[in-house]
Amino acid sequence: MNILVLHGPNLNLLGEREPETYGSMTLAQLNARLTAHARKHGASLRARQSNSEGKLIDLLHAHRRWADGIVFNPGAFTHYSYALRDAVAAVRVPTIEVHLSDVTRREPFRRISVIEPVCKGRRYGNGVQSYIEALDDLIALGRFKR
Ligand code: DQA
Repeated sequence: MNILVLHGPNLNLLGEREPETYGSMTLAQLNARLTAHARKHGASLRARQSNSEGKLIDLLHAHRRWADGIVFNPGAFTHYSYALRDAVAAVRVPTIEVHLSDVTRREPFRRISVIEPVCKGRRYGNGVQSYIEALDDLIALGRFKR
């Protein structure tokens, strides 16, 4: 099983960006942890990050035949990017939306996700563990399919 982990804007600054909200782990450390977790379950993982909406769309398109599942943290684009929503719908790869923080208990604008309706599921509020939960969701989905 091939899994694409896609991180959106500002997540390159993980570890130094508002650590009280997003934790102290860097993006490189997070990706290493996810790669190890995927490997343990026999899955291959590619992790990519971009601060640009168009690049994220291009990455979704480029991986649409490779990926069996996508773990996607769209960052602030979550709340307003119809273009990313359309890209997730277009590639037809099961996608789990992920957030480190609990977006349901922060500012009102974060309670809206335009991405959620086109995703298979959503994990949030558990820091790095939210990503692990999303990986497990996809791995379980993959097992079910076989
Ligand atoms: C985030 C939540 C978003 O609201 C925010 O814009 C981010 C990070 C999270 O992982 O908690 O950039 O997606």
